[in-house]
Parts: sequence; C-alpha cells; structure tokens
Amino acid sequence: MPWWTTALQALWLFLPAYVANMSPVFSAKLAPRWTAPIDGGRLGRDGHPVLGPGKTWRGLAGGALGGGLTALAMAFAAGGIFEDHDFGLGGYDGGPLDDGRERAAAAHASAASPAWAVFLFGAAVGLLALVGDAVKSYFKRRRGVARGRPWVPFDQLDFVVFGLLGALLASPLLTRGWALEAYFGHWLTVVTLLVLTPGLHLLVNIIGHRLRLKDVPW
Ligand code: CTP
Ligand code: MG
Repeated sequence: MPWWTTALQALWLFLPAYVANMSPVFSAKLAPRWTAPIDGGRLGRDGHPVLGPGKTWRGLAGGALGGGLTALAMAFAAGGIFEDHDFGLGGYDGGPLDDGRERAAAAHASAASPAWAVFLFGAAVGLLALVGDAVKSYFKRRRGVARGRPWVPFDQLDFVVFGLLGALLASPLLTRGWALEAYFGHWLTVVTLLVLTPGLHLLVNIIGHRLRLKDVPW
C-alpha cells in the first residue's frame, strides 16, 4: 500500500476522535443549561481553577456520544465498499493494512463486531479524546494559562494521544485483531496523526470561528 493511502486511512480511522473533539460546541447548543464543571468549580492550591469552567460533564458525554455515532456511521458506510474499514462489522480476515503480507486468514478470521460494540468502541475513543482535553487543561491551569487562551501544541495534540489510548483500551471490544492492526499496525498511522492534526485542528477552528460556532479562532 502506498504511504499516502496509509496516511489518508489514518485520518479516516481517527474520525471518531476528531468529531468528539469538535462536539463540545454542539453539545453546548443542545444542552445549554447543563454546565456542571468536572472540577466542581474548585481551585487548586496555586489559586487557579483545577480544570476551569470550560471542562464540563456535558462535554465528556457529548464526546462519547459523538465518537460512538461516528464509528457506527463509518462502519455501515464502509460495509461493502471498504470492507477492511468497517470496524469488523462484517467480520475480519487479516486487517486493513493487509498489503500482501501472508496471513493465515483462517486462523485470523473471527466473529464480526456487533453494532453495539462498534458504537462502544467509538464512544471510548471519543470519551478518552475529551479526557485528554481535560488532562491538558489541568496542566494548562498549573502553568497559569487562562481558560480559552491558546497553548500550542498541547491544545491540538491532547486528544490525539488520548484518542489513540482509547482505541488501544477498547480494542478488545472489536473483532479480534482489527483495532490493533488498524491503529497500530503501521508506524505511519500515529506519525500522520501527530504531524497533520495541529494544522487540521487550526483550519477547522478558523472555519468554526467564521461560522460563529466558536468564540476564538484556536
Ligand atoms: N467544552 C465543554 N466541556 C468539555 C470541553 C469543552 O463544555 N469537556 C466546551 C466549553 O464551552 C469550552 C469550549 O467547549 O469553552 C471549547 O473547548 P476548549 O477549547 O477545549 O476549552 P477552553 O475554553 O479553551 O478551555 P481550556 O483553556 O481549558 O482548553
Ligand atoms: Mg481552547
């Protein structure tokens, strides 16, 4: 498989995390009165908020829901066209990165991932993406960077590292071997996500700002 196919595939596979990371803007519109902050409004010993009012339970819940629905939609969309990209919904016989490597398909073939498992997998990736965002805010506050101010590159990469952790932790939910092969079968996948995400993130935020969905362009 040419390298750029692997790179494009990485971006596609990470869509549940990208959607989760963008979802707080939408969950804020859907549930404007559910503003309970994760840190309960507490301050750290340094006098700064533990996380700040920008990190809400609503955001976490919306991220999990957004990630789950995205994975489910992707699995059904891929079925029949890109069978290797369907989160194992149609079964699994060797992997999305099966570029001629000999595999004992029979040994690898395993039961298809049920739709609920695909949803839970996406929800785990989405939830962890936003947990990463909150963990970032914890350190951002400790460094004295105020809520909503930019903190490059951590604002852009927090959800990549944790989204991948979510894929790792939730991999047993999917048909055997699928997630590990898809996300960690090729070094280029992780590198692509780390290198391209900050630019994509900035682009999406500028568009969101222009559409008046976001207050600030970062
Ligand atoms: N948001 C939320 N809950 C979350 C994450 C985000 O409600 N867990 C909402 C908040 O309204 C937040 C907005 O989405 O202000 C933008 O998210 P983000 O840029 O991550 O938060 P910031 O306000 O910039 O806070 P921080 O400086 O801590 O990153
Ligand atoms: Mg921000």
